[in-house]
Amino acid sequence: MDVADRSMYERRVSGIALGYGAITLVLFGVTVFFGVIMRTSQGEFISVRPDVLYEFMTLHSIGAGGSLMAGVMAVMWYTLRKHLDMSMNIMQVVFGIIGAAVVTIVAVTLLGYYGTGWTFLYPLPFKSAGAWYDFAPGMWLLALMCVIFAFAMSWIDVIRAASKKYGFSNAMGWTLISGTAKPENVPPPVVLISTVTAACGLLSLVAGFIVVSLMLIHWANPSYYLDYLFIKNLIYYFGHIVMNMIMYMCAAIVYELMPIYANRPWKSNKIVAISWNSAFVAVTLAYWHHLLQDFPQPLIFQFLGVFGSYMAAFPATVVTITGTLILIYKSGMKWKVAPLYMYLGLMGWAIGGFWAVMDAGFNQAVHNTMYVPSHFHTYLLVGAAFIFVGGLYHITEELGGCRDTFEDKLGLWTWFVGGYGFVLWFMISGVLGTPRRYAVQMPGTEIYSTAAVYFAWTVVFGLLIAIARYLTRLQSVKPLRG
Ligand code: HEM
Repeated sequence: MDVADRSMYERRVSGIALGYGAITLVLFGVTVFFGVIMRTSQGEFISVRPDVLYEFMTLHSIGAGGSLMAGVMAVMWYTLRKHLDMSMNIMQVVFGIIGAAVVTIVAVTLLGYYGTGWTFLYPLPFKSAGAWYDFAPGMWLLALMCVIFAFAMSWIDVIRAASKKYGFSNAMGWTLISGTAKPENVPPPVVLISTVTAACGLLSLVAGFIVVSLMLIHWANPSYYLDYLFIKNLIYYFGHIVMNMIMYMCAAIVYELMPIYANRPWKSNKIVAISWNSAFVAVTLAYWHHLLQDFPQPLIFQFLGVFGSYMAAFPATVVTITGTLILIYKSGMKWKVAPLYMYLGLMGWAIGGFWAVMDAGFNQAVHNTMYVPSHFHTYLLVGAAFIFVGGLYHITEELGGCRDTFEDKLGLWTWFVGGYGFVLWFMISGVLGTPRRYAVQMPGTEIYSTAAVYFAWTVVFGLLIAIARYLTRLQSVKPLRG
């Protein structure tokens, strides 16, 4: 590409990232709101019928997780635009498919009454006892298949573009590890981490493709039986890794954007390459911690699951967080709202990740208690989502020269206080043994949900301010007008 083409390409990618960022942020806010309604009902301020609450839970989990993932992907494209030639056609097709999936999922849950939660464990989708229509599980699975194809296209494109520019083994950091990398072929961290993430994510999508296909066959032909444990393994391999990839893409974004504020370079080196490649292996093994109570699992998988869970926390989290601290130490960094969101997001990742490791270690005590939503809400609600919004704020600042206002800070800190208060009550009730996924809380445990409701609504206010401010900041960005 010549200079003019390059500049046009970067403008268009920026426009796509900002536009998709706005859509996914609003979608994120709406689907989080369903979670707030659920918590308000669990806290007995209102009464949502249990069957409706499970529909909300399904829409909330897949909606908030999916919109966050799509939004983070858009910001990642933005951060990759200077390094790689990603296909803009693919970006548009990916979001077109995700849009169609969103409409289907909303229809399936709210009109088809589908309510299995995100896990869709076999045979529940097909045994609703009349709670949802027979078409609902099929449509749900088809929507999921669309999402799998969309993410696969996007990740394949990352690997294609990175391999074209740097060569696959350079992009994965293998030549850095073996000490054979030539300086001109060493990719920046954002490329290395995005490529490792894409490769790891693709493997999980293969599992997703297999499990969704098998369940679709069962839906079409109910006499075709499936093995429960095999299906559970595939679902968690798929779901656990995809959820983790949100955080890994966020880390890639931080590696690219944080140095701008610290005014220091952050380069790829052997430690970065080793840590992200070990994270690939660890996260692949870690999903077995979801099956620690499944006694027919071969014992070796249980050991590997615990080992992988402990290992997953260290390479990427510790290296990224230590790296960030070194980067900002005595850098004279100006704490604008964008880097603050990203920094606090990393903190949420570290805290939520630590709680996740504890879950693997003390699974006998906290399995399927509210402890589980406490850990993943921490690294999603005050981890990945912070980095997503920080990334969007950064783009508006870089392209539109936006200055932070009092409202920007108010939104951030309101969300922060609400978010931590909210997850803390999940955590306390989980440690005390409150089971998860109960529409109506067990007698004596309602108080934890009641306390959490105040914080959940605080998040709503923070999030509303953040969304409104982002949409306002967007007005000053020229590429969208040009
Ligand atoms: C203030 C914000 C939020 C509130 C009030 C909220 C509320 C809830 C509640 C009450 C549950 C059910 C817990 C149970 O009884 O097991 C839940 C589950 C869940 N939430 Fe959230 N949530 C919020 C934010 C988020 C975000 C940001 C994400 C993802 C990006 C998310 C993803 C999920 C998932 C994956 C589940 C599990 C659903 C299942 O068990 O199938 N939530 N949430």
